[in-house]
Amino acid sequence: MFQEFELERWMSANEQGVRYELADSGVPAVALRELVSYGLQLEEIVDLPLHYPEVNGSGLIRERIRALYDSRTAEPVDVLVTVGAAEAAGAVVDALTRRGERVAMMRPNYQQLAGLAVNLGRHVETFSLDPSRGWALRLEELERAASGAAMICVCNPNNPTGHVLSDKEREAVVAAAQRNSAWLVSDEVYVGTEHDGVQTRTLVGMYEKTVAISSLSKAYGLSGLRLGWVAGPRYAVEACWARHEYATIATSALSMKIGEYALDPLVRNALFERNRTFIANGYRTIQEWVLSSDCEMSLSQTRATPVAFLRLPPGLSSVKVGRKLVEDASVLVAPGQYFGGYDDHIRLTAARHLDELRAALDRISSVLKQMRSHDTP
Ligand SMILES: Cc1ncc(COP(=O)(O)O)c(C=O)c1O
Repeated sequence: MFQEFELERWMSANEQGVRYELADSGVPAVALRELVSYGLQLEEIVDLPLHYPEVNGSGLIRERIRALYDSRTAEPVDVLVTVGAAEAAGAVVDALTRRGERVAMMRPNYQQLAGLAVNLGRHVETFSLDPSRGWALRLEELERAASGAAMICVCNPNNPTGHVLSDKEREAVVAAAQRNSAWLVSDEVYVGTEHDGVQTRTLVGMYEKTVAISSLSKAYGLSGLRLGWVAGPRYAVEACWARHEYATIATSALSMKIGEYALDPLVRNALFERNRTFIANGYRTIQEWVLSSDCEMSLSQTRATPVAFLRLPPGLSSVKVGRKLVEDASVLVAPGQYFGGYDDHIRLTAARHLDELRAALDRISSVLKQMRSHDTP
């Protein structure tokens, strides 16, 4: 049976009408005018013929993406430019596994890779992160899920917990893939969102059957460009390219041009810096709010991503809290239930202007207090 993408359904149903939108996992999006202030030449955009661009990505953009990985690998990586990491995820599952094969999936997680795998007839087994140990990887679960798997998928840094794999965990994931001769797919869309600016190392280069998927949506603040990529060995990338021709042919010419610019090393650093400021300030504000609240919520310290994965006061369900927040407070958050069944958590984006964030957090406090007083006999 077709598995719906619960989080995206929730967002589509609610995000347009609410006053405070804290449910998406990005930073405030960058406007074209801001890119012009970093040096983008508007004439190049205005004069661009709106034809199909190179189907697998322009030479310049592929060179700039390749440079993010090449120093880490003996063989040069190949790159395919896709319509967001979303298309990249569909292409890798379809191209690198077959119907009925096992796919081992990190949990909690953004539902995309798991849902795609299920809908393509793959058998998904999960291995989880442990909330009682700062969302560390449960190695014994990894072993079990990876046994006989054709593909192992990790999200590093992880959405929604912000966990970054330690060296020991990276090695365990690679060893599990090697033992099973499985593909290792590393969703790295949050590389560049680390609060301390220390960038997460890609898994590409640690094992020959590794592909990374990524995009300009999160760390760059350019989700509306819908530009992502697959990076890995040539034969894997070519198999994804064959799917890409059917799915979308190419991303847009406009996105390709602006993407080339955003991936210029100087512009990339400037965008990361801009976005990191939003993330770090917002995350601190949420931490202070949790500490000063009498609602019995908790938050693990995280290293990366624009989001905070908050444990709710005891007894509350994330979906009910989410609905109540929309109806009574016009605040949209993401229920933890939609990240693999974490109904005692909600996910909030921290990357907002602070006045807006504080006002939304006040409203959340009021609703949680009201819900708790109703639930307490
Ligand atoms: C972990 C993760 N991977 C992939 C995506 C898809 O991103 P894109 O906008 O590049 O399609 C998202 C979007 O939220 C995400 O959180």
